[in-house]
Amino acid sequence: MVIQVTSLIAVHWAIPNSTGKSGRVRVVPLYNCMSICLLNLGQRQVEGMSSQRNQMVNVARIREDFPILKRVLRGNRRLVYLDNAATTQKPISVIEAISEYYMNYNSNIHRGVHQLAEEATIKYELTREKVKKFINAKSNDEIIFTRNATEAINIVAHSWGVRNISENDCILITEIEHHSNIVPWQILAEERGCKLEYVVVNENGELDLDDYRERMDRNRVKIVSVSHMSNVLGTIVPINKIVKMAHERGIHVLVDGAQSVPHMEVNVQQMDCDFMAFSAHKMLGPTGVGVLYVKRDILTGMPPFLAGGDMIKEVDKYYTNYNELPYKFEAGTPNIADVVGFGASIDYLNRISMPAVRNHELEMIQYAMQAIQDVQGITIYGPTQSSVRGGVIAFNLADIHPHDLATIMDDRGIAIRSGHHCAQVLMRKLQVSATSRVSFYIYNTKEEIDSFVQALNDARRLFRV
Ligand SMILES: Cc1ncc(COP(=O)(O)O)c(C=O)c1O
Repeated sequence: MVIQVTSLIAVHWAIPNSTGKSGRVRVVPLYNCMSICLLNLGQRQVEGMSSQRNQMVNVARIREDFPILKRVLRGNRRLVYLDNAATTQKPISVIEAISEYYMNYNSNIHRGVHQLAEEATIKYELTREKVKKFINAKSNDEIIFTRNATEAINIVAHSWGVRNISENDCILITEIEHHSNIVPWQILAEERGCKLEYVVVNENGELDLDDYRERMDRNRVKIVSVSHMSNVLGTIVPINKIVKMAHERGIHVLVDGAQSVPHMEVNVQQMDCDFMAFSAHKMLGPTGVGVLYVKRDILTGMPPFLAGGDMIKEVDKYYTNYNELPYKFEAGTPNIADVVGFGASIDYLNRISMPAVRNHELEMIQYAMQAIQDVQGITIYGPTQSSVRGGVIAFNLADIHPHDLATIMDDRGIAIRSGHHCAQVLMRKLQVSATSRVSFYIYNTKEEIDSFVQALNDARRLFRV
């Protein structure tokens, strides 16, 4: 059945290229320099970006597909949703795909021989094929469905880590990581009695590649785990260079793609990473589904993470023969409906095309950076150049607490994020306990950014800063 599905699907794929640099802005006047940098857009590209830069999205048309964007909040305010790094909204096609599964072919997968089971299995496996094409993996066997990116990273830490890491080894992560890419490694380091080290982030919001090299050479590093794009600074890291540096030393690399896969073309074969983790809900898909990509050669050597039904070929009283890949890593009944919905979200993104998604976000970030440069008292964290920045801006406004600012925004129907963004290590480095954060996606508009900037100025007046 799976083979039938595989032969049905063919999705266009483009190869990403190039590299870039970044910087962090702390005070308003620096934005004068940024305007100049912004003019250079297009001369420098980020690893993982397409060269098809002229693709545009029709935002007005896209917005019609998202029922939630019609919501009116707090009396008469039209929703302005700027919290996309936390989770994205869902187009009607995703919502319908999920309800269609429940209405027409709800069934468990892989086991039944009846028609519903067959249809559900085909749809579930179709999404695996779509994910494979979307990130350009070599085979469907390398795609494991998880609950989210967090679970995907935990599988690597527990399954691969326990087998491959021992005392005197080192796990190398960075100061920009989300807690999901810190805590599993802390636990593993404690269990194995090995070292955990952090590559430092510099004043410009970039990872220090010399520090990377030095730590790789000084320690017996077994794995490098790094976020492709920071959920706070927006920094898109030079992932190809990091992977190359690690592989030259025989070190495995896990890429946390939670913030990159939804926003730019990602090609795991070209990147050559060993593991990649990401979540469906950050790319128009439902919550409760994530992906772990693992190179097949590595996956074959990994013991199962969870055990039970569906991950077995044969169970004897005292012995079990495990199922083939990738089923060996998908124990129990999976989240079938949401995997089906995830397939619809990938279709949606493919219709727009990932270069167009990235282009739109570049336009948004460029516009937003320019618009807030005149807001007195603003401090922005992360690279000055939009070309090496994802669609995320973390900032503080004078000494207004981020939660107060988010409340003022909320009064105006504007959803932004405030807090530590699950990145307390980074917060300490920035010497703040929290920041506000806006993050964009394909349905955001310049008018929404204008409303946000107006609300920033309202907050300044209210707090007299
Ligand atoms: C960079 C990064 N990594 C990992 C995660 C965890 O994603 P999830 O909560 O879907 O597992 C997030 C979520 O915000 C993230 O931004």
